Amino acid sequence: MTSLTGKKIIVTAGPTIEALDPVRFLSNRSSGKQGYLIAEALAHRGADVRLVSGPVCLPCPFDVTRIEVESAREMLAVVEAELPADVFIAVAAVSDWRPAETHARKAEKSAVATTLQLVENPDILHTIATRKTDRPGLVIGFAAETHDVRERARAKRRRKDCDWIIANDVSGDVMGGDENAVWLISDHEETVWPRTQKAGIAALLADRIVAALSEM
Ligand code: CTP
Repeated sequence: MTSLTGKKIIVTAGPTIEALDPVRFLSNRSSGKQGYLIAEALAHRGADVRLVSGPVCLPCPFDVTRIEVESAREMLAVVEAELPADVFIAVAAVSDWRPAETHARKAEKSAVATTLQLVENPDILHTIATRKTDRPGLVIGFAAETHDVRERARAKRRRKDCDWIIANDVSGDVMGGDENAVWLISDHEETVWPRTQKAGIAALLADRIVAALSEM
């Protein structure tokens, strides 16, 4: 019996990739490391963890159930299918846009250069945070910012309707690196966790979740 035994926690991690055709896609620099370490820390504390992961080069953490997806729309569908859950943590760097059209065959480059159009992807965090009947009791987002980190993260937390937001500055080597420094921002708290290994941030977050659930 450990502190999160009996709790189901859904974690998204990694990038999403948005196909243009069978060989090309839009994506971003997310390595998935922070999300995988959070999933591992939660499982270590006894949680039933569902890790909904975009394409990354990482092994599935011990005692975690991984569901692999590619696009934002697939990620959202899997997260919704995994509800209800006690906690939802959106760590994934979801592609904000996808090509308006996905070609079944390799697209002609000259045609793509003149016709490529993008459409916005669904916001997974906001969708889950505003579910009417089965919103998880604790919804946590991440804010990847390159400037005005705390101000932007505060606004993002309100916009996304999540309970906590973990703000990090991705202007340096955070994306792909092994270390991170973050702010935990809620409606009544702003706490800094100074730069440390991503595993350290994962442990701090997992312990905060244990404490929060014990008060619910
Ligand atoms: N997120 C999500 N679905 C999206 C975009 C973002 O679930 N389509 C989640 C991320 O997992 C993260 C949070 O929203 O928890 C904030 O992501 P971020 O990339 O910082 O912000 P965006 O919503 O993309 O806004 P912007 O690019 O304008 O900063």
